[in-house]
Amino acid sequence: MQKWPAEAIWEAVEPTLPGFTVETLAEIDSTNTELMRRARAGRAEPTLLVAERQSAGRGRLGRSWLGEPGDALTFSLGLPLAPVDWSGLSLAAGVAVAEALQGPPAPAAALRLGLKWPNDLWLWSGAQGRKLAGILVETATAAGAEAAAMRYAVIGVGINVRPHPAAGLSTPPAALQEVLPGIDAPAALLRVAAPLVMAVLGFAATGFGPFQARFDALDILRDRAVRLSDGTTGTAHGVGEDGALLVHTAAGMQAVTSAEVSVRPAP
Ligand code: BTN
Repeated sequence: MQKWPAEAIWEAVEPTLPGFTVETLAEIDSTNTELMRRARAGRAEPTLLVAERQSAGRGRLGRSWLGEPGDALTFSLGLPLAPVDWSGLSLAAGVAVAEALQGPPAPAAALRLGLKWPNDLWLWSGAQGRKLAGILVETATAAGAEAAAMRYAVIGVGINVRPHPAAGLSTPPAALQEVLPGIDAPAALLRVAAPLVMAVLGFAATGFGPFQARFDALDILRDRAVRLSDGTTGTAHGVGEDGALLVHTAAGMQAVTSAEVSVRPAP
């Protein structure tokens, strides 16, 4: 097992989130699946679950998430939440992770770490982008929750840390070491864990509103030609107060909210 900074993370988070625990595992099917299983079985404690290897890692839209031990950081944060409005939670999580991973300011032409709506982290240089990390948010009914609006939210994060061969992919994925040379998975976890918890708690209190400008500052699609998965093309105009992607199309401004929509820079 790698040496994980569990205690430092616990010390940073527990005063704000009583009952919080950090758990590290050598292997599991998926950290998201495990926390969802626990929530359905009535275990709804705030937990950060890190796995060095996932045998069945999952991505958005039913895709799988592959990552080799050491090459990727894979973890999930699970906690009971009762926000007034759930829209934008995954974007707020992306903002927190991207801000926490930003390295020292780079020269204008160099790599830029940004967000590709809804919540993928990309490294972008010139007109080219490569995916660095992905986030998968799921929720389960929180057994025994006092508030009816409360659910157990699971925020899963997968970050490519070390460059690795891109089997079957046309574009090799980006790696965190390209922007933070020498960083390893435990050091990456130490950077992102507490800021992610604080952002999620902040989101529960305020909703997406305060994250809108922060998303804007990281938005790599803004003012770019985009193509939606239904074939519609247009120009991305940032996100609305609820995290919807605003796309100016031939039929006018369209607010894209569905998780089934994928957005690609148009050729
Ligand atoms: C995506 O890019 O589509 C989202 C990828 C999310 C992957 C992470 S790895 C930790 C957690 N456990 C999973 O099975 N998935 C998320």
